[in-house]
Amino acid sequence: MGHPVLRQTAVPVTDPTDPEIARLVADMLDTLEDAGGVGLAAPQVHVPLRVVIFYVPAARTEDDGGGEEVPLTVLVNPEIEVLDSTPVERVEACLSLPDMAGRVPRASRIRYRAVGLDGQPFEREAAGFHARVVQHECDHLDGTLYPMRMTDLSTFGFVDELRKPSTEDA
Ligand code: NI
Repeated sequence: MGHPVLRQTAVPVTDPTDPEIARLVADMLDTLEDAGGVGLAAPQVHVPLRVVIFYVPAARTEDDGGGEEVPLTVLVNPEIEVLDSTPVERVEACLSLPDMAGRVPRASRIRYRAVGLDGQPFEREAAGFHARVVQHECDHLDGTLYPMRMTDLSTFGFVDELRKPSTEDA
């Protein structure tokens, strides 16, 4: 957080089938695996292009309104349409803000459109954690980090501290 590339608006990819884009995605996959995250946007590896990767592991489908496991997906030039703007608040973290977390309201249901690495456009509807991770990653393409979406900054902090039992509960 604080690096200029994370604050700028990323540029659309002109040719999603360009081998340079496949190389970028391979780099992003390495970074995602090393960090143990579920999603990553190109600006997080300092490339200001509209490319996102994510997946939804089975373990995450139950804690945010249900939904289905989603295999690793590459979104080139994604666009989001909000289908249900009812905000749902859950804890988010981000590889660009290591060791921190906070509660972030997100639209509960969206439709997103993107192009794959094969150049083919596709669209999906998403709810729950699936909708959340897509909104989080696509925000990166417009220079928005999750704390900028938070409405209650008292829930923002270091994961180690947030996990400590509250003294009020003791
Ligand atoms: Ni992030």
